[in-house]
Amino acid sequence: MCGIMGYVGARDITKVILDGLAKHEYRGYDSAGIAVVKDREIHELRTTGRVSQLAKKVAEEHFTGEFGIGHTRWATHGGVSEMNAHPHVSSDNRVVLVHNGIIENAREIRADLEAHGIKFHSETDTESAVQYLGYVYEGDPKAAIVKLTKRVRGAFALVIMFYDRPNEIWVARKGSPLVVGRADGEGFCASDPTALLEYTRDVWFMDDDEMAKITKEGCIFYDFHGDAHEKKSMHLDWDAAMATRGSYPHFMLKEIHEQPDVVAHTLLGRVADGAVDLSKELDWSEAKIKGWKKIHFVACGTSHYATVTAARIMETLGDFEIRTEVASEYRYRNIPIDKDTLAIFVSQSGETADTLHAARLAKSRGAECLVITNVRGSTIHREVGNAIITPAGPEVGVAATKTFTAQITALVLLGLYLAKMRGELDKDTEHRLVTALMDIPGKLASVLDKEKDIEMLARDFADARGFFFIGRGLAYPPALEGALKLKEISYLHAEAYPAGEMKHGPIALLDKELPVVALVPKNGLWEKTVSNIEESMARKSPIIAVATEGDDEIANYTDHIIFTPETEPELFPFIGVVPLQLFAYYIARQRGCDIDMPRNLAKSVTVE
Ligand code: F6R
Repeated sequence: MCGIMGYVGARDITKVILDGLAKHEYRGYDSAGIAVVKDREIHELRTTGRVSQLAKKVAEEHFTGEFGIGHTRWATHGGVSEMNAHPHVSSDNRVVLVHNGIIENAREIRADLEAHGIKFHSETDTESAVQYLGYVYEGDPKAAIVKLTKRVRGAFALVIMFYDRPNEIWVARKGSPLVVGRADGEGFCASDPTALLEYTRDVWFMDDDEMAKITKEGCIFYDFHGDAHEKKSMHLDWDAAMATRGSYPHFMLKEIHEQPDVVAHTLLGRVADGAVDLSKELDWSEAKIKGWKKIHFVACGTSHYATVTAARIMETLGDFEIRTEVASEYRYRNIPIDKDTLAIFVSQSGETADTLHAARLAKSRGAECLVITNVRGSTIHREVGNAIITPAGPEVGVAATKTFTAQITALVLLGLYLAKMRGELDKDTEHRLVTALMDIPGKLASVLDKEKDIEMLARDFADARGFFFIGRGLAYPPALEGALKLKEISYLHAEAYPAGEMKHGPIALLDKELPVVALVPKNGLWEKTVSNIEESMARKSPIIAVATEGDDEIANYTDHIIFTPETEPELFPFIGVVPLQLFAYYIARQRGCDIDMPRNLAKSVTVE
């Protein structure tokens, strides 16, 4: 994963790079480094730990230069150490670079170069790239990078400086995200466009097999043969304030609180007068929509759980043959994918390698593909073409929250629209659900009003050994997402099960130290779920119930109740997930965890 930043221009070089790296920290935060060129000499500074530690070192050493690059690392090859932190410099001190991705044939390149007497200084795959560049560089950066792209295999976003090329930054991309930006007299590059918002909103998303030269005067784009081409820039519709924490202690909490607005924005322009219309985004005729026999949902992590939610809702709307698949599995199984398939990829970042590769596979098999993503212009968006963009704004907390609710909003709209176009949705159901969807922002606001109660509950349970989350039907997907949130940020073991499945094995784990969070909305499955609650109580597990306001009976089973407003049964996942996000947040806070940057995780997973 890792985050990259590069800058050439008149501003304070180290400040721009350090500020940019801080905005990338969610992508990796085990070590960080910066390199500058000054008077035809490369200087670099690296440290283990966070960008703030690097900033301290930069200040102490009055480190500065004419133009520079920086990196925040999520270790893949080589442990977490200063030696393995980027930037990496060639042994002859002529080339320096930062890298996001994995160079698969690094060992082989290293062996070759070592045989030529080149000394390596780290255990990273990245060093093979910089040493190779140093070896082939003869004063023409483009020619050297072209050679490098032919020599390396794997995924890379590379940002490179050469000691004798003043105010020139070179970038190359294959498989890992990279965005280039330009303002008057200055040029930038970054892994994440949010790092550029403070300076410019006009950016170019680099494509695979593309390289560029960034100078104060502008950017020139080339293919991997070294031939130049024109490239259209894109104007970002996010603003810099969206990527700040405001008065919230953590991005995650801010993003949880943004959910009522996010749902409202996602509905905007897509529903009117109790009806859904996606025809402005989806250029599909009725005949085309009727022609698809199968719907495949493909995604990872939270986005996968959004698709599990969507599938269960869609089952109630029409006669769909739906599969929900984890992207890393979809590619390697023998799943029939053909022109009768509508393959829907869901990815907040639009950069997840597993999802991207799955989309390429489905496309190559002739499936119609659609992506639901939060990042316009992201790799998956550009490659798939058909898209529904969720307007959740940048999500910085590593644990996804507001993008999940945005995704399920978009997915419910999509389900309604497809069912309608296929002639399977009756007008009353459409009206009932669209009206209920429009009430969701207000209902989420009232769930958020319960924050203090949820915080108290989290205090009581922060020392638990782990948690089970149970729910039936449409209460099961939010249970999955609630358990994932808790695992990610509090490091407690949490598992979600369909409530009725507990007795087939997991119930053996229950005892008084293992609480069960039961999602038990007042619907047709209430009694059955309550039976499962009783089974858990019989094993002495404390019960935390997420129940519907006005459900007085639930108090017979537990004192720990989070009441949520009633909604249409199909839309319970919206209402059910938010208290669980808050619960996970406050448990993690109680346990002193690093909520926005949980250990071992990175927000955008660009390796397979
Ligand atoms: C969980 C989380 C991850 C992501 C997953 C997919 O909080 O953030 O599980 O959902 O890595 O990421 P995207 O949606 O960017 O493809």
